[in-house]
Amino acid sequence: MKNKVTVIGAGNVGASTALYIAERGLADVTLVDIVEGMPQGKALDLQQAAPLWHRGGRLMGASDLSAVAGSDVVVMTAGFPRKPGMSRTDLLKANADIVRPAAEAVKKHAPNACVVVVTNPLDVMSWLFWKVSGFPQQRVMGMAGILDSTRFRAFLAMELNVSGADVQAMVLGGHGDSMVPLPRFTTVSGVPIGELLPPDRIAAIAQRTRDGGAEIVKLLKTGSAYYAPAMSAVEMVEAILTDQKRLVPCSVLLQGEYGMRDIFLGVPIVLGGKGVEKIVELKLTAEESAALQKSGKDVESSIAELSVAV
Ligand code: NAI
Ligand code: 2OP
Repeated sequence: MKNKVTVIGAGNVGASTALYIAERGLADVTLVDIVEGMPQGKALDLQQAAPLWHRGGRLMGASDLSAVAGSDVVVMTAGFPRKPGMSRTDLLKANADIVRPAAEAVKKHAPNACVVVVTNPLDVMSWLFWKVSGFPQQRVMGMAGILDSTRFRAFLAMELNVSGADVQAMVLGGHGDSMVPLPRFTTVSGVPIGELLPPDRIAAIAQRTRDGGAEIVKLLKTGSAYYAPAMSAVEMVEAILTDQKRLVPCSVLLQGEYGMRDIFLGVPIVLGGKGVEKIVELKLTAEESAALQKSGKDVESSIAELSVAV
């Protein structure tokens, strides 16, 4: 196949990402994990499923990060997931120790790749990957906004008993408790949700969206969500590989946009073959803007915390 995607981390999110990419025939996929035999086993299992999807393409497993060589896109999922009671910030130092060598390996072996970071805490790990790789900011981005917006869409669809496919939603900010669902930019086939639901229901659904990851952690008890996260990462991979120019929220480096600088934060971007092709600056109300600034401050302090911890 023409394209190669390497997924670093062959756990729940990584393996599901490989599955969705292979099932759609988007690219050859290499799974990399430190657990010897596991990425090779999962890749072989997926390869054996491929004929049933009527797809070609190769799936490989590897235990060495040099396997990223030749990748068009790298999806970084290696890291510890959140356990019940654990905040995303608790993951900070442990996952930084995993992200750093991965970013060095991608810099060395896949210097032209676009990188989609999934590892939490998302905005800080995306920033760290960008810093360590030295890649242009257009080629490093974090996946969270698509997931958070999709959760908002799903909860609204459940409430209204309509297809989630018809719900369009926008959730900005960091991938944490201070994320910013934007009902003003949320519609059902163009109908503003304010026309369809009272403000208290919209507020409750926005809160459930903010708690969307924690709700699943509480149910699973031994890990965090992975189907919707993996599918959200694949939306990004597909947009890059097929130069779709999707307008989607992703965590990207801000250099003055929205009045912030030197942090990664979820904002609307145009995502295409070159990666982050444009950052779209929405005209926010004072309240929306204050919420986004607060979210940016939270990310900024986590970056500062990481810098102190190392
Ligand atoms: P998991 O535990 O199922 O898989 C993680 C994998 O990473 C394991 O197989 C582990 O062996 C591997 N790994 C650890 N260190 C490694 C290294 N140095 N090199 C290569 N592989 C290594 O966890 P899961 O559920 O797949 O989650 C992965 C990460 O994604 C977590 O940090 C989680 O919090 C994050 N996540 C982020 C989301 C987002 O919206 N950005 C959504 C869901 C998960
Ligand atoms: C989620 O939102 C754990 O960040 C992950 O499901």
